[in-house]
Parts: sequence; structure tokens; C-alpha cells
Amino acid sequence: MTRINYVAANSTRVSFDIENGTSVMQGAVLSGVDGIVGECGGSAMCATCHIYVAIEQAGLPAWAIPKGGPSEIRRRELVVR
Ligand code: FES
Repeated sequence: MTRINYVAANSTRVSFDIENGTSVMQGAVLSGVDGIVGECGGSAMCATCHIYVAIEQAGLPAWAIPKGGPSEIRRRELVVR
């Protein structure tokens, strides 16, 4: 199980323990998180869900964390804060 914190646009927070191997979207749908309907089934077609990951909290090994932040290509693909 992995604890996922969902934060809505209005800053409402809910947390659920999600079975490992379940996508963040699937976990939200299965847990009834408001605003996440998973309309396209996670095919990245409906754009109703997107996530922000605190990279220092993601549990990634040091080699997987990009030095100096995301590449230019990633910056164009992602919203980087
Ligand atoms: S279910 Fe996530 S983008 Fe469609």
C-alpha cells in the first residue's frame, strides 16, 4: 500500500492508502475522490486529471532525480513549479 494525498484545486485534501500497482487516477476513482472521473480510463486523452509530484518525497533513487531540474523537453510537457 502507498499513501496518496490528493489535493483539489480548492485546496481540499484527502488521503488514501492505494494498492501498489494501481495508478494515481485509478486510486482516486476507486476511492471516490471528487473531480476525478477517469473518463478516458487513463489514456491521457481527456485531460481531466494531472498530478504534481514532490520529487524529494517520491522515494526515487538519487540517480533518477534530474540534476538541475527537468529537461527542456520535460518542461514543455509538464507544468513545473
Ligand atoms: S483519465 Fe486521466 S487524463 Fe483521462
